[in-house]
Amino acid sequence: MANQLFTRKPLSLLLKEMHGDNRLRRVLGPWQLTALGVGAVIGAGIFVITGEAANNVAGPALMLSYVFAGLACVFAALCYAEFASMVPVAGSAYTYAYATLGELFAWIIGWDLILEYAVGAATVAFGWSGYFQKVLLKFGWELPHALQGPPIKVDEAGHFVASGQFINLPALLIVIVLTFVLVKGIQESARFNAVMVFVKVAVVLFVIIVGAFYINPDNWTPLAPFGYGGLNLFGHTFGSVDAAGKPVGVLAGAAIIFFAYIGFDAVSTQAEEAKNPQRDVPIGIIASLIICTVLYIAVVAVITGMVKYDQIDVAAPISTAFSQIGLGHVEFMIAAAGVAGITSVLLVMMLSGPRVFLAMARDGLVPKTFFAAVHPKFKTPHKAQMLVGLFVAVLASFLPIGILSEMCNIGTLFAFVIVCAAVLVMRRSNPQAERPFRCPFVPLVPILGILSCLTLMLSLPHENWWRLGIWLVLGLVIYFGYGRRHSVMAHYVEPKP
Ligand code: ALA
Repeated sequence: MANQLFTRKPLSLLLKEMHGDNRLRRVLGPWQLTALGVGAVIGAGIFVITGEAANNVAGPALMLSYVFAGLACVFAALCYAEFASMVPVAGSAYTYAYATLGELFAWIIGWDLILEYAVGAATVAFGWSGYFQKVLLKFGWELPHALQGPPIKVDEAGHFVASGQFINLPALLIVIVLTFVLVKGIQESARFNAVMVFVKVAVVLFVIIVGAFYINPDNWTPLAPFGYGGLNLFGHTFGSVDAAGKPVGVLAGAAIIFFAYIGFDAVSTQAEEAKNPQRDVPIGIIASLIICTVLYIAVVAVITGMVKYDQIDVAAPISTAFSQIGLGHVEFMIAAAGVAGITSVLLVMMLSGPRVFLAMARDGLVPKTFFAAVHPKFKTPHKAQMLVGLFVAVLASFLPIGILSEMCNIGTLFAFVIVCAAVLVMRRSNPQAERPFRCPFVPLVPILGILSCLTLMLSLPHENWWRLGIWLVLGLVIYFGYGRRHSVMAHYVEPKP
């Protein structure tokens, strides 16, 4: 049994499977993949979470937080790109872990990715709801209070308290609509995404260019009112922490706005739908990350220069900054583009989870008849898509954004650590394998990736470690109850050459 836990899926088998039946349609080129990446990345992180992070965690030094988190992502992206070019099948980090670290690790990472994408999608749906309600307000429509948000919120001391609301209705509705769009097909989704991405990038450029004329450099001092970094080792804090014992400062800010970068890895889950995955998936991953990093740093520099950090709006910081400097008419345009931009993120987040399930189902680790079912006409994993839609809908309707985003961050950072480690392992175990894209400066880049992601994990409030732990334990129960016994690899005999 111990052997099975560490069974690796041979690279030759992965490549052979790529040409098998029941595959997804290969329709995506490099531009579409980069657009999918940008579509997955620029969203609730920059448009919403920036506000809270600037106000209460990092101040104007949030610019540096974006630099640090961006660097951690560049290291991880280079590792992702190497794998995506070697093993261009659906499943992303899950598949890479199966090829390098064995079945148990593959399960853990696959299960963790489901958390990342589902909780991430719920976070984004929450952010979408905030901007959507701003737009409605401009038309004079306000939802009944009970339908505006989740029933619980977190107070200053970090405790859960009743919010006086009942359900986040807009978040629920957008998740339902997008589930139907996704069941219908990836090509239609990619086209829809391209339009949204265009609108979003245009508005971000507008914010940077117009906002630059309204910067008051005095707003950048003090630069780091919360200090540079606080760490939290399972409840023991070091460096800067707030009254509730949460880390604050540049690093803590980076751990929170790390959410803004999540999504470039989703490009690798589309590998199977790419026309030329070996070349185009690395391009999609790296190009989308670089574009977003540059835009983010500029946006945050502009917003913290336009408005004093403690007056930045928490619900819709980017659009509100313009009304704060007297350009109220621009606010509506930015809020409307925010809605479009955040929708495209939600779309990619929601389509990634079912594709990880699909890969796990093909390996027998979750039931095939359900999770590997591909719709005969639309060629999408429709059953898994609907199940994920349901899960995201429940989370988005009833939980606050802070809890959702931090949980998504810790899960994603954990996945990045494993992908970086897997590059190191794979270079040793399969040195001769063809690597159309090679991560530069190995082992330095993967090691820096591991260290920077671990630092960010430790800069999050420590409850997140418990939440991640509970999710992983739940996953292990399923693995030992089902996956291990139905694993295809358990009965696989490698053919003699
Ligand atoms: N990076 C994505 C966002 O900010 C998840 O919405």
